[in-house]
Amino acid sequence: MSNTAVIGGQWGDEGKGKIVDLLAEECVIRHQGGANAGHTVKINGKTYVLHLLPSGILRAETINIIGNGVLIDPIQILDEITELKKQGIDVTPDRLKISHIAPLIMQYNRVLDAVSGGKVGTTGRAIGPTYADRDDRIGLRVCDLYLLSDQELREKVEDNLKLKNHILKFYNHPPVSLEDVMEPLLRSRDALEPFVHNDIKRIIHEHDGSLLAEGAQGTLLDICHGTYPFVTSSNPTKGGIYTGTGAGKITWDNIIGILKAYTTRVGEGPFPTELGGNDSAEWCSTHKREDEERKYTNVSINDSDDFQKGVALRRVGEEYGATTGRPRRTGWLDLALEQYVVDVNGLTGIAITKLDILTGLDKIPVCVGYKLNGEETIHFPIEQLQNCEPIYTELPGWNQDISNVRKLENLPKEAQNYLLFIQDNLNTPIINVGVGPGREQTIKL
Ligand code: IMP
Repeated sequence: MSNTAVIGGQWGDEGKGKIVDLLAEECVIRHQGGANAGHTVKINGKTYVLHLLPSGILRAETINIIGNGVLIDPIQILDEITELKKQGIDVTPDRLKISHIAPLIMQYNRVLDAVSGGKVGTTGRAIGPTYADRDDRIGLRVCDLYLLSDQELREKVEDNLKLKNHILKFYNHPPVSLEDVMEPLLRSRDALEPFVHNDIKRIIHEHDGSLLAEGAQGTLLDICHGTYPFVTSSNPTKGGIYTGTGAGKITWDNIIGILKAYTTRVGEGPFPTELGGNDSAEWCSTHKREDEERKYTNVSINDSDDFQKGVALRRVGEEYGATTGRPRRTGWLDLALEQYVVDVNGLTGIAITKLDILTGLDKIPVCVGYKLNGEETIHFPIEQLQNCEPIYTELPGWNQDISNVRKLENLPKEAQNYLLFIQDNLNTPIINVGVGPGREQTIKL
């Protein structure tokens, strides 16, 4: 009997959904983030994309909890439930339980995020402004839908709207109307009610020993420990599990960091091992998948040009946002960064995803340290990653298709060597390795 936490070990998009689906037991809990997440899970050839619902929802026997740290967009969550129903997954109140004190996403914050989130390259899902309202103590919470009268709810929204419309004026944006904010709240209130619980902690404690905490985003996007200010506004790191559930009696025995075999990031911010450097960052922030497919018809991951190599890695790895459709910036695995991730979260194990994507590379560079101001650094400079120059080791690649391999010893020796290099460097055991998107395409160690 043990409790497991799954934590993003990079800048999100590490493939956490598949690992949660693999490790889920009685009860899966989400504790932070909102519909900015996009967890893609492939089961028996069917693809499911989840934004707010925990990935355990795809397993009929699993109870799914949305903790108080998660931002609730009531229409989004109901739409997601309807969509899953169409795909044959029934989401009933006995399998989905939402904390009554989770913050609500309001229409004005969607608009604010759209006009003010550009510098960070946010997902536009109102994440920053909603957490800011919570911390400013002016936010609305799920329980307000049921505890306040219609009149009281309107008054609270009206009060906030005065401030929000004032800020929107600063951005030369037209005001948001009271009706636009109230309509989704009133429309979703009754349908949401059966899922809302005021005793989430008790439910979590009842399943102690068979819990799985599903992190969204990743450690480097953490508001406190990430590449600030290019971060999200929650704590995807281990500490976020406690504040985002309130279940203080739980011990998290296994803390599993999910690491893609290479690295990606969306939005702005430093990324030392990015292929193509600033050109790649600029291209990804200004172009769409279609533009890229039109312009780069023939690309190779062994191209001598780093930018083109980055495009090829994106193409082979299908690295386009599940939530936004944006091309993700691509680069090599960064073990200097990963050591920091191991330390911040106290990782007890690592799951490597998408190893198959590296097949065909002649050589695989791995970052093992940084130079800062011309000298090798001994501490990890999270505050000035933009000034760091990666120090690489090159490991040999492999050509054989590995997507059907299910045992470590059946991998080409170069692929085994790549995994052992990661494990030894981080001094943390690898517990499983993904060699394809399917549930079964996993090597268990
Ligand atoms: P926000 O979370 O929408 O406020 O966006 C803040 C930053 O986090 C932006 O750079 C986003 O691209 C990034 N981000 C948010 N959610 C995810 C995710 O699920 N995967 C990858 N990046 C994310």
